[in-house]
Amino acid sequence: MSNQPLTTTDAGCPVASDEYSLTVAAGGPVLLQDAYLIEKLAHFVRERVPDRVYHVKGGGAFGYFEVTADVTEWTKAAFLNEVGKRTPMLVRCSSVAGEEGYPDTDRDVRGFALKFYTEEGNYDLVGNNTPVFFVRDPMKFPDFIHSQERMPDSGLRSNNMQWDFWTLSPESAHQVTILMSDRGTPRNWRHMNGYSSDTYMWENAAGKKFWVKYHFKTEQGIQNFTDAEARAMRAEDLDYHRRDLRDAIARSDYPSWRLEMQIMPYEDAANYRFNPFDVTKVWPHEDYPPITVGRFVLDRNPENFFAQIVQASFDVANFVPGIGPSPDRMVLGRMFAYADSSRYRTGPNYEQLPVNRPLDEVHNYNKDGPMRYDHNGNQPVYAPNSYGGPKADPQRYRDPSWFVEAAEIMRTAYEAHKDDNDFIQPGTLYRQVMTPTDRDHLVDNIVWHLSQGVEPFIQERAVTNYWTKVDPDLGARVAQGLGLRTLQPSR
Ligand code: NDP
Ligand code: HEM
Repeated sequence: MSNQPLTTTDAGCPVASDEYSLTVAAGGPVLLQDAYLIEKLAHFVRERVPDRVYHVKGGGAFGYFEVTADVTEWTKAAFLNEVGKRTPMLVRCSSVAGEEGYPDTDRDVRGFALKFYTEEGNYDLVGNNTPVFFVRDPMKFPDFIHSQERMPDSGLRSNNMQWDFWTLSPESAHQVTILMSDRGTPRNWRHMNGYSSDTYMWENAAGKKFWVKYHFKTEQGIQNFTDAEARAMRAEDLDYHRRDLRDAIARSDYPSWRLEMQIMPYEDAANYRFNPFDVTKVWPHEDYPPITVGRFVLDRNPENFFAQIVQASFDVANFVPGIGPSPDRMVLGRMFAYADSSRYRTGPNYEQLPVNRPLDEVHNYNKDGPMRYDHNGNQPVYAPNSYGGPKADPQRYRDPSWFVEAAEIMRTAYEAHKDDNDFIQPGTLYRQVMTPTDRDHLVDNIVWHLSQGVEPFIQERAVTNYWTKVDPDLGARVAQGLGLRTLQPSR
């Protein structure tokens, strides 16, 4: 007798066969009373949940975060309140534009989504492997994503669409410079950094507030593919990044990242030379030097990819006391979209799934809905009530807040700060940070990308209104690579 478990229906009743359907004699019809067959087929066609709307292809692992420096002067977050304290974590890395099955190594931004299972609830930090983003207002986000996806008529992706959107959206120049550099083709997820990109608020026990950016520096070192290497890997292994992380953890080669924080005093924001809440900008290191405060290690692979990675939900609105949003408009837009997406993908009770549920107990007045099983017994279902239901404590837990000047409700750009130009920072990156080899690769990658089905008038705009404004030398080199005469930027 083998030790294999006995097959059962989903109700736990033993079944007779996983091989043969129930038929009338060997050649006769299959019977409707084969309840196990019907359960098996019906369950099979319901195996998928809707994909994430983007960041579909990804992978992830579990691990822990450890505090390495005292940060209590900046935040009262309980999971950060003691050097040496460890908090369990989930990390999901992903590509942005491709579907499940898309090659991992194609040029793209990579997602870097973190879930900290803290004693005061789940804290989710959903970042990317770049410190900036393509747009600064959530209103433009769906249009941006549409431009990266597939054409309505052909179902094909289109570089023409991408460059049309980018060159009409000058705020994208910083992110596109990084995307077109070799950082757009990281060798694998272990060898790339992660950034909050967005700005958040930290608040200490005395109520003092700070604006912060998170930088997770790979302790494996940065490694990128060249464009040619990344494209060659397409043919060799579509799942190269997913496999690399899994294999590394399986052989106990646990990847780790160091957390460095940039911390800006609350009062600095108003007159800082860049708008500090504009996610298309970094805070130069010399202004706000990164401070090392912790590290995380990934040391456990998922046992079930669907249950623990596909159904994982990261929510920008999941803050713990001591951490909150900022006036960064993208954060504020994102605080709506993630939970909304999870409710659509996995239903309103998605936070009861083991991968999403917090370590602490949940008490509130949300009830019922599909697949709800967690409950607090016969507790009151309305507040206020006289029967001992959960009660919020506004003195102890205030919403993190900031002041806005009394003003009209309007649709407008951010208030301009002195150096708020879309091209200054990518220009600095090109001239001062990149090596000559980085610059050569950047030019080659841009020229190749712009040569794949991009209409001549958009190529010209990319030279005049985009790359020449980032740097005249870069513009001239791209023009030359495309076989265009050197064009002057339009005013
Ligand atoms: P610094 O010289 O202090 O920092 C430059 C940073 O750029 C490095 O620390 C490194 O950060 C990152 N970097 C290095 N090579 C590349 C590359 N090929 N592509 C993209 N990033 C690279 O200068 P500043 O802080 O004044 O920033 C100058 C420019 O550097 C910015 O305009 C921005 O484009 C870029 N940058 C700045 C970051 C910041 O937070 N200040 C972060 C990343 C890039 P890391 O180890 O984080 O990758
Ligand atoms: C995923 C919306 C900007 C990083 C998602 C999802 C939505 C969304 C709906 C799918 C969530 C799910 O189904 O679980 C938005 C909106 C944005 C925005 C509306 C702008 C207003 C950004 C920015 C970053 C980012 C600026 C990086 C700093 C990610 C990542 C994922 C993701 C990494 C994948 C998370 C995972 O692994 O599950 N986004 N997003 N997004 N987004 Fe955004």
